[in-house]
Amino acid sequence: MTTPTIELKPSSHPLPAAEREKILAGPGFGRHFTDHMVTIKWTEGRGWHDAQLVPYAPLSIDPANMTLHYAQTIFEGLKAYRQADGSVATFRPEANAERFQRSARRLGMPELPVETFIAACDALVRQDRDWVPAHGGEESLYLRPFMFASEVGLGVKPANEYLFLVIASPAGAYFPGGVKPVSIWLSEDRVRAVPGGMGDAKTGGNYAASLLAQAEAAEKGCDQVAYLDAVEHKWVEELGGMNLYFVYGNKIVTPTLTGSLLAGITRDSLLTVARDLGYEAEEARVSIDQWQADTENGTLTEVFACGTAAVITPVGTVKRKGAEWQQSGGEPGEVTMKLREALLDIQRGTAQDTHGWMHPL
Ligand code: PLP
Ligand code: COI
Repeated sequence: MTTPTIELKPSSHPLPAAEREKILAGPGFGRHFTDHMVTIKWTEGRGWHDAQLVPYAPLSIDPANMTLHYAQTIFEGLKAYRQADGSVATFRPEANAERFQRSARRLGMPELPVETFIAACDALVRQDRDWVPAHGGEESLYLRPFMFASEVGLGVKPANEYLFLVIASPAGAYFPGGVKPVSIWLSEDRVRAVPGGMGDAKTGGNYAASLLAQAEAAEKGCDQVAYLDAVEHKWVEELGGMNLYFVYGNKIVTPTLTGSLLAGITRDSLLTVARDLGYEAEEARVSIDQWQADTENGTLTEVFACGTAAVITPVGTVKRKGAEWQQSGGEPGEVTMKLREALLDIQRGTAQDTHGWMHPL
């Protein structure tokens, strides 16, 4: 399969610098988009072709576009960080490219070569580098590569045409409260994904499946839902858009990858960062009863959520049917904050990148 070269068609109408700077002063999450996007087509028999970097613009969609009906769509999320010397680097783009291939396989879609995925992200960040927020804070440029079926028709089958795109959005804290602990509703009846399903693929359907439970959590005064396994309704899996970690003193534990939760790149990175800092780090099954009991007996000292968008976010209040408790007194825990700083230091380039995770542009 040949890798198409990305043809550049820079925008003649980029946002004026003063307006861009105003956005960068308080970007929020996913509300503003940069001046360009990358598009690459795939057609059966022809493969990947027509790779372009073009001005950011709406797409024209046929009402019978197969994605609108059958949801053959996948996406990724990764960030570009401004380094101390003013240069820009992305964090583990290869890991996102590989997960994108796994998601594509699960959804019966063509696999974009890893080098094309990375080249597309690089091209967009290079072109829109002025949109990467200043060094030092936790702001970054969030990249959203995605692919969907572009064939028109109503037959249920893998499409014969796809469109891959990368768009970018300057990002501050995912949660409006910043590092303020989030509250969690433990959903004991609604599940996000099932064994043999597509829970470990990053596909729109999983997020659609999470929205009703998320709305119910909001009614109960919680920010997020923690999903349990779909068979025993007992084992903690993850949140709708983040993985979970449990802190037992000097040991951090994250739920084992069962196939129905997403293999987060932040989750994976933290297993290593924690060991580098001298903590024990392991993957294990954790039940909700154990979560509650270990908090009550004081052995479970902190809980946090992690993901590209959310970075590391402490968990404060936890509610389940008939019970409610606080993790680490409702305050961000010490281990949580140490890991958060250590990871952000690597991403911002203020700590040594001993694992070769940063991809300089
Ligand atoms: N779980 C889900 C369902 C997600 O959407 C995400 C976000 O990408 C994560 C976990 C965390 O994954 P990552 O650390 O790769 O961003
Ligand atoms: C990410 O962290 O990149 C995600 O895709 C999660 C989503 C909830 C924004």
